Amino acid sequence: MKIAPSLLSCDFSKMGEEIVRMDKAGADWMHLDVMDGHFVPNITFGAPVIKTVRKYTDKPFDVHLMISDPLKYADDFADAGADIITFHVECDSDIDKTIDKIRSRGVKPGLVIKPNTPASAVFPYLDKIDLVLVMTVEPGFGGQSFMADMLPKVKEIKDECKRRGIDMLIEADGGIGDATIEQAANAGIDVCVAGTAVFKADNAAEAIAKLQSY
Ligand code: DX5
Ligand code: ZN
Repeated sequence: MKIAPSLLSCDFSKMGEEIVRMDKAGADWMHLDVMDGHFVPNITFGAPVIKTVRKYTDKPFDVHLMISDPLKYADDFADAGADIITFHVECDSDIDKTIDKIRSRGVKPGLVIKPNTPASAVFPYLDKIDLVLVMTVEPGFGGQSFMADMLPKVKEIKDECKRRGIDMLIEADGGIGDATIEQAANAGIDVCVAGTAVFKADNAAEAIAKLQSY
């Protein structure tokens, strides 16, 4: 299992150092949660902050846009150094245009589904994206409880991709830690985001290695 620590749980006063700490601890990707206070009831950081911390690691930047109009800002996040940009299928932007814009910038596009959104919502776009991110909490905040009832969506997406001969990465985000990683692994998830479980651990390297072992 690949592990992407969510910087949402880091000490924002030293975000660069926190990225270095996660890099040394063996993180596979860095997960950056962008919230606009409109799509979700919380505000985090935007492209200028991501651009500033990009230099602290060579690991992939997995930028999760919880914003209403990702098409408007896709160029900014590409310029900031994102390797992957995921955005919500529930957003207000034209989905095809947003995918095409991200791809045109040499960045991998992915779609995210909230807990109340069915897996089938991403089916029309599976040919055009590299990744589907299944939310296992309501987006907006770290430290929430894992929703195991989201896992059947993973199988639905994987079955549809298999049927159509599409290679797809499946990522899960929210409430993942020692108590829930096994269920996620058994469901066939490739990449797990982990905020609290990694940043609040006494030993981040041990915490990441344990999660990766599933
Ligand atoms: C929630 C974010 C997540 C989340 C992960 O809106 O997308 O990345 O903060 O944090 P934990 O692992 O603490 O649930
Ligand atoms: Zn996230």
